[in-house]
Amino acid sequence: MTRINVSPYADALWKGVGGHFDSFSEIIYEFIDNIISNYDKNKSMIRAAIINIEPVNTTNTIRVKIEDCGSGIENIEAALRLGDTSNRQTPLNEHGFGFKHALASANPENNRWIIYTRTEADLSNGQYKVVKAPYDFSIEEEIVSITTSPWPGRLNGSGTMFEFECSRELFNTLIQDRRGNPGVHKCLELLSWDLGYVYSNIIKEGRIALTILSSTVNYNSPVAAITPDWVGLYDPKEGKIKKSLDGNDVDIEFKFGEIKANDISSRHYQRNMSTSGLEVRINGRLLESNLLTDVWGVEQHNKYNHFLAQVNIISNNPDYLPKTRTSKNGIRIGDKKLLDLFRWVKSVMPEPPEKLSKEFSERELVKKLKEEKERHTRAVDKHIDNEFEVFRIRQTPVRVDLYVYDGTEVVLYEAKKGSADMKAFYQLLMYWDGAVDDEIEPSEGVLLAESFADGVVNLIEDFNNKTDAKGNRYKFVCKTWTEEGINF
Ligand SMILES: Nc1ncnc2c1ncn2[C@@H]1O[C@H](COP(=O)(O)OP(=O)(O)OP(=O)(O)O)[C@@H](O)[C@H]1O
Ligand SMILES: [Mg+2]
Repeated sequence: MTRINVSPYADALWKGVGGHFDSFSEIIYEFIDNIISNYDKNKSMIRAAIINIEPVNTTNTIRVKIEDCGSGIENIEAALRLGDTSNRQTPLNEHGFGFKHALASANPENNRWIIYTRTEADLSNGQYKVVKAPYDFSIEEEIVSITTSPWPGRLNGSGTMFEFECSRELFNTLIQDRRGNPGVHKCLELLSWDLGYVYSNIIKEGRIALTILSSTVNYNSPVAAITPDWVGLYDPKEGKIKKSLDGNDVDIEFKFGEIKANDISSRHYQRNMSTSGLEVRINGRLLESNLLTDVWGVEQHNKYNHFLAQVNIISNNPDYLPKTRTSKNGIRIGDKKLLDLFRWVKSVMPEPPEKLSKEFSERELVKKLKEEKERHTRAVDKHIDNEFEVFRIRQTPVRVDLYVYDGTEVVLYEAKKGSADMKAFYQLLMYWDGAVDDEIEPSEGVLLAESFADGVVNLIEDFNNKTDAKGNRYKFVCKTWTEEGINF
């Protein structure tokens, strides 16, 4: 038997490792994941990171520098080894491929990338380490003294800076839907929105403070979290619970609701077909969005545009979390943990809602009021009903928002979530007349709303001087939800 050597050519491997990403942003995420991981692991006090992007006119490329003030790369050898996971710091370090994938995608020529890093020990020795292209199976690690060549970045203390060049075409993937040669400034704004979206929770929690900087195009701006603008919530609304995914307990933060179009980023949370559905995050980092078919088995449709569900799976144990693809731009559909998550989402919300949450909550509020009334009414012969109908003898019944018989009197309710207008009052009047028509004698009609439009109260007073078809005086009153003990 002879042993044959099948080790790959480093250059070919580099080319093969690259090309995993569809967009420039995805490349940047790999570096940011590592920085957040390092800050989380060390519980760092200062969590700045600078993304510096400058066009290089002579070569029509873009030079990117990503710098942090973390603890530096302890073991550069392991960090550079493909698939080496021995240096994992948090679940954000998963496969041992991240930055190598990213560098190889950005610079397939394998000639323009450099890593500068210094640990606390390097810092006190007045030195930093440098590793640069080309990627090979043995790479030189240079130790540079700051007296001969100062730290090339902007941040003091320990930390790491990745520097690479990529093609303008790759950079332009930031603009997915525009032709021509978009300006660098615009691209940076789009990058900022992408980062603000993917890391929204992490930015809000203060786990990283990102800045994008370009002196060439005069851009200097912190990355703000991009979050949905909610207009209302659907059951089970929002909260945090413990759930078992494939037998492992994780915390799940969730929020189900209706959104309006985001007015900061024109690309995210737009209340359209490509930004609605279920969004899954792991420890705050976005993994997958726009899920509908995988969870509910329904086709994408604009009737769901308003609907967003957010689920954030939280655990420090990487084995408890769904596995991502090696290029992290998505989760592996078919993962048992993910299937358990989808099953849970479907059991709390069996169908994605077609109705707007506003319509929904008015009904819901009436249901709450009904429960209140049931609790507070003692009479054994009470009848409290949100399905009660009048005009029954006319064959075309009309449903009353709420009918309350407390053993002595009948009270009819017309409920409006917001402001009650003339139409709302006339609806109440119709309930009254319809009840009288059915031989019921109401004692009171309540117009229930958050507020009352001009003139409504006066109109009601006028009507209270009139009599109904039976010759009884109308008795209408305006009440707010708070007066009825319902707060929302
Ligand atoms: N900015 C950084 N500061 C400190 N250590 C870092 C930094 N970037 C990378 N590292 C180290 O390099 C290792 C390799 O990073 P890389 O992104 O290639 O893989 P990974 O994060 O382990 O896994 P994944 O494939 O999921 O990204 C990391 O585990 C981490 O130990
Ligand atoms: Mg990584």
